[in-house]
Amino acid sequence: MKVALGCDHGGFALKEQIVDLLRQLGHEVVDFGTMNGESVDYPEIAAAVCEPVAAGECQRGVLICGTGIGISMAANRNSAIRAALCTESFSARMSREHNDANVLCLGGRTVGPGLAEDIVRVWMVTEFEGGRHLRRIKMF
Ligand code: RB5
Repeated sequence: MKVALGCDHGGFALKEQIVDLLRQLGHEVVDFGTMNGESVDYPEIAAAVCEPVAAGECQRGVLICGTGIGISMAANRNSAIRAALCTESFSARMSREHNDANVLCLGGRTVGPGLAEDIVRVWMVTEFEGGRHLRRIKMF
């Protein structure tokens, strides 16, 4: 898959790890930065990542800030985006099966590297179930 990735300074270290992981898994990564630990504004990164996902140029997006909260709020302002903030793997799986999440949000300061990797692995391979869930996501 082609995956758009972005982070603010609070998510920079984890973003670098997730870029490597996604490439190892055979995905094409488009990295929208940030490229170092200097302070940046996460709404701008969220908008940059969500644009190609909404346009269908990237199949998925991953966004990382300190907690994942602000960047998920910003991402969900785009009406084509279903961004899910996940702090454990069960929610990651459900966000795909039931919500067809097209953007995964993580907190660089809230999840450790092992858990974050597990969340991403699960989220990338889980399919949307459709059916009644499709009806529901069409309602918003
Ligand atoms: C930046 O300090 C921090 O506010 C940001 O990374 C994020 O946690 C916001 O929700």
